[in-house]
Amino acid sequence: MTIRIQPSILSADFVNFERDFESISAADGIHVDVMDGHFVPNMTFGLPMVKRMQEISKLPLDVHLMIEKPDFWAAKYAELGVFSTTVHYEACLDPRKIAKDIRSNGSRAGIAIKPGTKVQDIAKFIEFYDQVLVMSVEPGFGGQSFIESSVEKVIESKILLEGRDIWLQIDGGVDETNIAVLAEAGVDTFVAGSAVFKAADRNAQIELLRSLALEGSHKH
Ligand code: DX5
Ligand code: ZN
Repeated sequence: MTIRIQPSILSADFVNFERDFESISAADGIHVDVMDGHFVPNMTFGLPMVKRMQEISKLPLDVHLMIEKPDFWAAKYAELGVFSTTVHYEACLDPRKIAKDIRSNGSRAGIAIKPGTKVQDIAKFIEFYDQVLVMSVEPGFGGQSFIESSVEKVIESKILLEGRDIWLQIDGGVDETNIAVLAEAGVDTFVAGSAVFKAADRNAQIELLRSLALEGSHKH
């Protein structure tokens, strides 16, 4: 199984993105958290900032839209050329059309669920998507504790994705204590914010997380 480590720049220095991007060059991609102060009780940045990040990043950008009205906004992010664009199921009016809009703009389409949303709720839409994101904290802030019941949701998601080429991503409270178990449960794409950015040597930390995940995935 291919393991991907995507540090979340929510834990980065917001006036030094370029420098911080360089400090995580060993990553497979950069997870970009867009928050609007409505869908979640926090605000980060919007289209102009992500446009600039796309211009300077040497790594693929994985955009996580924690915003209302993804039916309107998702295509605009995809249009920037970002690698993947993930919307929250809870905010979507027409998840099928959103996936189509994202893909037709050349981006991979992702669908995310909050801790309180059941995996079964997205079952009929997953065939339109390239990745499923299971949130393992309430979206809004970095540095929260991992919600243990998320492992069960990963197992359920993995069953749903059986036989399909759809990535399974987890986001929230991922660190060296739980990454192996998550890989064993079927996660292939890991977002880690504080666990990477707090490390003195971020690239070494990314390599550590990757090797722990690889070990776990071999037990799968
Ligand atoms: C939370 C964000 C996450 C967050 C993860 O709403 O979607 O991407 O930055 O940060 P950690 O790994 O610190 O929980
Ligand atoms: Zn995120």
